Amino acid sequence: MEKIDWGNLGFQYRNMPYRFVAHFKNGNWQAGEIQEKNELTIGEASTALHYGQQCFEGLKAYRRKDGGIQLFRPDQNAQRLNKSAQRLLMPEVPEAMFIDAVKSVVKANQEFVPPYGYGATLYIRPLLIGVGNLLGVQPAEEYLFVVFCSPVGAYFKDGLKPANFIVTDYDRAAPVGTGSSKVGGNYGGSLQPHLEAVEAGFADCIYLDPATHTKIEEVGAANFFGITKNNEFVTPLSDSILPSITKYSLLYLAKERLGMPTFEEDVRIDDLGRFKEAGACGTAAVITPIGGIQHKDDFHVFYSETEVGPVIRQLYDELVGIQFGDVEAPDGWIQEV
Ligand code: PLP
Ligand code: COI
Repeated sequence: MEKIDWGNLGFQYRNMPYRFVAHFKNGNWQAGEIQEKNELTIGEASTALHYGQQCFEGLKAYRRKDGGIQLFRPDQNAQRLNKSAQRLLMPEVPEAMFIDAVKSVVKANQEFVPPYGYGATLYIRPLLIGVGNLLGVQPAEEYLFVVFCSPVGAYFKDGLKPANFIVTDYDRAAPVGTGSSKVGGNYGGSLQPHLEAVEAGFADCIYLDPATHTKIEEVGAANFFGITKNNEFVTPLSDSILPSITKYSLLYLAKERLGMPTFEEDVRIDDLGRFKEAGACGTAAVITPIGGIQHKDDFHVFYSETEVGPVIRQLYDELVGIQFGDVEAPDGWIQEV
């Protein structure tokens, strides 16, 4: 394994020594195991391959100052994986099995959990895929649950620095489609709008609601939030948004720790002037301040294109402090590995 430069990881795959794989067949989960090979052998007619019957998760392991390793709200990822699984008629992964698998993968690869102080983490990617050979459009009878990991740094270049985004005309999800499930199909369709945004000089695209194209839904693979001029925390409410665990954590922290009124409500793209700060949030994105948003001919700047606003800074310090064990966490948010 190459020597790792913890300060310059970026967000990319590195082949780690160990991953967890479990097989579902005859209506039951078999005992899974840690394996060394980073390849899966599956039937060519697996439903995950031709009909997109798969879902996934993303969470991180954090190295504390005392050298210990902890997970942030893995129970929430287990529950969301099972909601995605239900939507695509896949078997649920029992929560304890999910968390044990995540912990065993982190433990097995613990030398690759980045040291404290670099802002880097071990990103964990659980996958549930339909396997076995089937031709008709129908749910598989067999599944694989896989958990692999990779050390990562910032998802958007430069971490806690504002990034600019552009509103796309494409939809990421249908009004009553799979937008609230973490399924691969949503991401396949996002590759083209993402590329167009990057080619136009933006970090990523912003999706509007698919029914009316008037309200903000998502910022690439992250949720949107804004801080109003009255110091309220506002984030969109929609059935086609992925329910971000980071977003719900920020809603709680804004209210309980910063004393801010919080709202999940429509965020109209023609009413951005109500916000003094805005951000994108997610496991990979953490909190990325939004410098400005391009929408048709209008470029709207929030706090600044170069500086981080004070409320986002406070939210970031609280959230990231909890994740790395420097700030006391609300009950049940942290699990020791
Ligand atoms: N929105 C999309 C489309 C995502 O892929 C993600 C990443 O998981 C998020 C939002 C953020 O969700 P979370 O905070 O649970 O990582
Ligand atoms: C995450 O934030 O965990 C994501 O899944 C975003 C992206 C890498 C798909």
